[in-house]
Amino acid sequence: MITVTGATGNVGRVLVELLAEAGEEVVAVSRRPQPAHATAGVRWARADVGDARSMRVALRGARALFLLLGGELNSRGESPDALLEAVTDAGVEQVVLLSSQVGATRPAAPSHARLREFEAAVRTSGHSCTVLRPGAFASNALAWAESVRTRRTVFAPFGDVALPVIDPADVAAVAAAVLREDGHAGRAYELTGPEPISPRGQAAVISEALGEEVAFVELSREDAHAHMSRFMPEEAVSGTLDVLGAPLPAERRTGPDVTAVLRRPAAPFGAWVARNLPAFR
Ligand SMILES: NC(=O)c1ccc[n+]([C@@H]2O[C@H](COP(=O)([O-])OP(=O)(O)OC[C@H]3O[C@@H](n4cnc5c(N)ncnc54)[C@H](OP(=O)(O)O)[C@@H]3O)[C@@H](O)[C@H]2O)c1
Repeated sequence: MITVTGATGNVGRVLVELLAEAGEEVVAVSRRPQPAHATAGVRWARADVGDARSMRVALRGARALFLLLGGELNSRGESPDALLEAVTDAGVEQVVLLSSQVGATRPAAPSHARLREFEAAVRTSGHSCTVLRPGAFASNALAWAESVRTRRTVFAPFGDVALPVIDPADVAAVAAAVLREDGHAGRAYELTGPEPISPRGQAAVISEALGEEVAFVELSREDAHAHMSRFMPEEAVSGTLDVLGAPLPAERRTGPDVTAVLRRPAAPFGAWVARNLPAFR
């Protein structure tokens, strides 16, 4: 049995489906009641990753855990010790941690300190462990969905700075492979999309998919900061803007790990847009 946290999110939703399709027994973790769209045969457990006690039931009988720190848990919360104690007590053998590329490329960035803390704790916990370090998600473009729907406009900072954004479905596919195949223990995979694409370029892809013009308006860093602070913890906003505005060479380039694990190239941004077009109509 595999316990999947973040099961209602961009990565976890797909991962639950992939594992269930492959015949794995899955326990999907959410703080909310079982969603109406729940995949048949998947057991739902109501728990919060930020509350280790609530996770004990979700971990009962699991051989593996996919661990994702959603929302503000990325920046603050309990130390990893209580959760890892619950993992050990449940007899879980394997932990796959969803971390971030930035945790490794910017080892002193306060915004990613907590992910680094979890990486270190999971690595030294004695469980078979694999760390996934994705770059920016294609699904971050959902932040533009409302203005595209209502004003056919994308508002974003750093319009011409390109990053190899990754489809979260590819992150899920890598996680599924790591959870089901041998040979990934002790590894850390850096996950990127197939090519760098700028926010302006992403707006153009959305425009083409809609068959309608979508304008691009570049925000100042200050305006973007004010906007992002409404839905992201303050600690995370500066770190995210640093990456979006001045990515390091290691954050700009495409890496080989998605192709190596999946034996196919990473999906382009357009593939994510095609699957999520209703959000922008
Ligand atoms: N976005 C990026 O560009 C990017 C890049 C690199 C790494 N990452 C990592 O990817 C992860 C986010 O993945 P995602 O996009 O699939 O998630 P998401 O769509 O933002 O959904 C968050 C998930 O976390 C769960 N969660 C559990 N406890 C939570 C809490 N206390 N607060 C908020 N959510 C909580 C939510 O479940 P319920 O609400 O159902 O409980 C939900 O399933 C983060 O760990 C982030 O560091 C993201």
